[in-house]
This record gives sequence, structure tokens and C-alpha cells, in this order.
Amino acid sequence: MSSTPTVLITGCSSGFGLDTARLFLDRGWRVIATLRNPQVSVLPATDLLRVLPLDVTDAHSIQRCVAEAGPIDALVNNAGIGLLAPLEGVSMATAREVFDTNVMGTIAMTQAVLPQLRERGAGVVVNVTSSVTLKPLPLLSVYTGSKAAVNAFTESLALELAPFGVRARLVLPGRAPSTSFGANARRLVERSGHPAYADYTQHVFGVMRDGHGPVTQALDVAEAVWRAVTDPTAPMRIPAGEDAVALSQEGPNASA
Ligand SMILES: NC(=O)c1ccc[n+]([C@@H]2O[C@H](COP(=O)([O-])OP(=O)(O)OC[C@H]3O[C@@H](n4cnc5c(N)ncnc54)[C@H](OP(=O)(O)O)[C@@H]3O)[C@@H](O)[C@H]2O)c1
Repeated sequence: MSSTPTVLITGCSSGFGLDTARLFLDRGWRVIATLRNPQVSVLPATDLLRVLPLDVTDAHSIQRCVAEAGPIDALVNNAGIGLLAPLEGVSMATAREVFDTNVMGTIAMTQAVLPQLRERGAGVVVNVTSSVTLKPLPLLSVYTGSKAAVNAFTESLALELAPFGVRARLVLPGRAPSTSFGANARRLVERSGHPAYADYTQHVFGVMRDGHGPVTQALDVAEAVWRAVTDPTAPMRIPAGEDAVALSQEGPNASA
């Protein structure tokens, strides 16, 4: 790694991406914070920070961003969208939108950054998935499918990159009501209702809204990403947040 290493993080307008960018800046890294709309960045102006536009579903945007970014030591694929809805209410366009962002966006960004990591024989790709892949929850079939696909993608990729000195790791956050995730999912959720599931959907929404017990903070995720990037002995899957850590310790079903 260079003396002042560089991390590129996707989805830095809010939530985990924003706090991860802050943490890496605080710890002396150069940060390329990417956002769909750079105007909304609330990161502190410093010489270590560059803010670049990036939409992970747009091939030209990816190409431009990676070319402008220059050398990168770590890529954090954090950008993602949620969907809490019964499958019967989900149009294929909506399912594709979720997979385009969460899965294809991650694959495309990784593919765009990999050549320079492989040529240098160093670097790490960290993909942010979810603790819902540890234990299934209702109304999350499409979202969970997208995150489980990224788990499998990353675990296979890690094997093929190891001979080149490049690492790939996963961070699995638990439920984090304090980010903009729920608000950002609302557009997709509102168009994905189904009358046969209306009562059940309201029940599940209520359970989630009133849920007690531990949750995940954005800083938990930032620390887990830090560990994934800086600790070569970190495990393949790093749960982030008290609830995710508890789930990861639940036994055989938890590791499926
Ligand atoms: N919050 C949770 O409960 C939770 C739990 C487990 C895992 N996760 C995962 O953690 C990651 C971050 O979520 P968060 O909770 O921090 O939610 P968030 O506050 O909504 O942040 C998501 C970020 O992704 C960006 N994004 C969405 N679509 C994009 C696209 N096409 N191109 C580039 N950026 C895009 C958003 O940008 P805009 O502002 O432009 O929309 C935003 O910056 C996601 O991958 C999510 O699936 C979240």
C-alpha cells in the first residue's frame, strides 16, 4: 500500500457510506467519496477528500469515475437500495432495479477497479451486504436474494484474487434504523403492495417499527469496513452491529 493509501467508497451521501468516509479521513487515508449527486456531500473539506459523481447502475458513470479517481488501494461497494414487500407485489422492473444496484453495481465497480489492484499485486475489495443473509426474514425475498448473490460473488472472487495478492471481504450489517435506508426504499415499497398481503405487510411493518433489542449503528459498519480493509487476517464475513454479531453466532443456520 502507498504511504497515504486511498479508499474509494460508493454511496457516501448518507448512512454507512458517509460514516465510513469520515472514519477513513479521521485515520489519515485519502478518501474518494462517491455520490450520485456530489452537491449533497456533507463531508468536511480537506486535502485528503475528493468527491466524485457515481451512479453504480451507469456504465459510463463508472468508467468516468474510476478514470478520474486514479490509483486506489481499497474499494468499498456500499451503495445499495432496500425493498420490503411481498414478492407478488413486486414488478420485474422493481426486482431488476434492486439487482441492478445491489448486485450488478457491485460487480461492475469491482471489475472496473480490479485491473490496477491485480497489476500492483495489492489491494482489497469490501462488499457491504446484510445480516438478513444469515437468517431469513419475510418480505425481503428480492433484497435478500441480491445480498446473498453478492456474498457468493465475493467468496468466489476472493479465491481467484488471492494468488495475485488482492483480497475480497464482506461486511454484514444488522438493522440500522438511523440511516436513510428506509426513506430511500419508500419509492419502491409504495409501488410494491399487494391486497392479499395488506394485513400481513402492516403487521410486519409494525413489528419492525416497534422492534426492541440491539440494532446496528453506522459507526459499527465503518469500523467493520476499516477492519476488512486494514487487517489481512480479518475473516471473510465480518458482521457489523450487535444484532448482526449475535445472528452470526446463532449456529449452523446462521452460516447458510
Ligand atoms: N440500514 C440498514 O438497515 C442496512 C442493513 C444491512 C445492510 N444495509 C446495506 O448497507 C448499505 C448502505 O445502506 P445505508 O443503511 O447506509 O442506507 P442509505 O443511507 O440509504 O445509503 C445508501 C447509499 O447508496 C446510494 N445509492 C443508491 N443507489 C445508488 C446508485 N445507483 N449509485 C450510487 N449510489 C447509490 C445512496 O445514494 P443516494 O443518496 O443518491 O440515493 C446512498 O448514498 C446498502 O448496501 C444496504 O443494502 C443496510
